[in-house]
Amino acid sequence: MYYSDEVLRQVREANDIVSVVGEYVTLNRRGVNHFGLCPFHGEKTPSFSVNEREQFFYCFGCHQGGNVITFIQKMENLDFIESVKFLAERAHIQLPEAEVSPEEKRRAERKTRMYQAAADTARFYYYQLTRSPAGANALSYLQNRQVGETYRKKFGLGYSPISRNALSAYLRKKGYQEEELIAAGLLSGKPGNTYDRFFNRLMFPIFDAQGRVIAFGGRVMGQGEPKYLNSSDSEIFNKRRNLYGLSLAKRTRRGYLLMVEGYMDVLSLHQAGFDNAVASLGTALTMEQANLMKRYTDMVVLCYDSDQAGTNAARRGIPILEKAGLQVKVIQVPSGKDPDEFIKTNGAEAFEEVIKSGMDPIDFEMLVLQRQNGQEIEGQIRTVKDMAQRLSEIDSDVERELRIRDVARKMNTSESALAQEVESIRQNTGLLEYQSSQRETRSRERESLDNRMDAAMQLLTVLIKKPEIYPKIRDVLEIEDFSGEDEVTKGAAGYVFQALSEGRSVTLSDLFTQLSSEEEQSRFSRLYAFELPESKEDLGKFLTQTIRSLKQKRIDAMAASDETDVLLKMLQLKKELSTLAIKL
Ligand code: UTP
Ligand code: MN
Repeated sequence: MYYSDEVLRQVREANDIVSVVGEYVTLNRRGVNHFGLCPFHGEKTPSFSVNEREQFFYCFGCHQGGNVITFIQKMENLDFIESVKFLAERAHIQLPEAEVSPEEKRRAERKTRMYQAAADTARFYYYQLTRSPAGANALSYLQNRQVGETYRKKFGLGYSPISRNALSAYLRKKGYQEEELIAAGLLSGKPGNTYDRFFNRLMFPIFDAQGRVIAFGGRVMGQGEPKYLNSSDSEIFNKRRNLYGLSLAKRTRRGYLLMVEGYMDVLSLHQAGFDNAVASLGTALTMEQANLMKRYTDMVVLCYDSDQAGTNAARRGIPILEKAGLQVKVIQVPSGKDPDEFIKTNGAEAFEEVIKSGMDPIDFEMLVLQRQNGQEIEGQIRTVKDMAQRLSEIDSDVERELRIRDVARKMNTSESALAQEVESIRQNTGLLEYQSSQRETRSRERESLDNRMDAAMQLLTVLIKKPEIYPKIRDVLEIEDFSGEDEVTKGAAGYVFQALSEGRSVTLSDLFTQLSSEEEQSRFSRLYAFELPESKEDLGKFLTQTIRSLKQKRIDAMAASDETDVLLKMLQLKKELSTLAIKL
């Protein structure tokens, strides 16, 4: 789906970037830019800037940038079309129906077929479990693990038969193309030689948040390696961006999500009435998953194993969840059990109590440190110092003070001693941060040097930031000079030239609507940080240099030709190049 350039312009113009960003970030004016703390990465000194003239934001720390639509996409976790709708609503603009390009239509149809094939695959496994003799084993395995029929169905469990081509044959008979089945991660191998990935396993379909089947996890029944085999990432599945159980858990009325480690835990928790359980998909918790959860809830209870691995996973997960703006509680299931085993031994009510005992991250950290450092006096000192470090990272003065009081009480140490320790760490880090911000400035300078390598991008920067220069270089610089560049750069140059030749100027924000992939966007974001020479003389020299190297690249490309006209034109360009000089 797309909206015309005109509609997009209207939406952008009605939503001034400074005021939109200002609703999320406290901005302070500094020169032509507004600065604030970057909402996309954790930082304590502002490197996030918003420019009113360019209608553009850019973070010098994490290098993310874009226009007001990009900002809403990232901030509200929306796709492009949703963000346009969001902003139109904000400005009370009536949007026309979005249009669909043929390319988009083709891509959407391919995706639809893939989702259909994944759903058919789940149906096939389900049938194998319930109605084929070979599934009997798997059914009794489930019985042993006390999975009842209702939840077996709710989670769509199935069985992959002892065959390397049963699924292949089934899907081909349904008329799917092998190439698409492979791209959807449903079959392995190459077109003409495909085979089933899963063999004699209990199958867990993985659903996306909208409830579409996108992948599978398959468990061996009994012993065997690997215990779980998962679909690899495909055109419809990205394991970093999905959570097992979310399509059901998002409807919970418990008001929070319960994050556990395993598929079986999710299943068994739902069955026991904890309909808010989700699990990551065989990887550590990711930022994408945290943002995904934030769409449905404000609080996550982390429930990992109490062993070293589980504890480490919780400690790594906490800052990720907090960064997504989620409140976090941590629970550890007693006596080294996972939630599934715990519930089977102790029942759902006992688990409810475990959840009630949830710790906030600071208390959890204290518990972990106490366990690690022991109760000897040296150990206690170590723990107090480590806690002081953790407390020093709390930005809010009020919260820090309250936490210090609480921790001091729990650790039997005096509040003033702990407060002093925290203060001295804060002063030291103040110094460290100053040093690291110095380092950052230096690396920023290096970055602009790096940019200097790419003449095409620099010229576009000049044309965007100083459109008044255009008449001075119109006669020596032509759009064909960009012909040695990649397609995206050529497209951007064409866009800028077109506007300038019609007497319009172009902002970075305008240019951004022409870029579709995240990679292109992040490449062009860096134009923002590129600083132009200040004096007229230096800028003239700079332009001479960049135009020369751009033309040289074009000439080099032409020299490879075997057509006479091209070679003649090349010689002419070469001659012009030797006398080219821009004076402003
Ligand atoms: P566990 O080993 O704790 O399994 O792995 P589990 O979910 O408790 O399963 P049961 O109770 O033994 O049947 C936790 C999660 O780690 C991933 C799976 O997502 C699993 O649910 N995992 C584990 C894999 O992806 N591959 C493996 O080989 C093992
Ligand atoms: Mn288990």
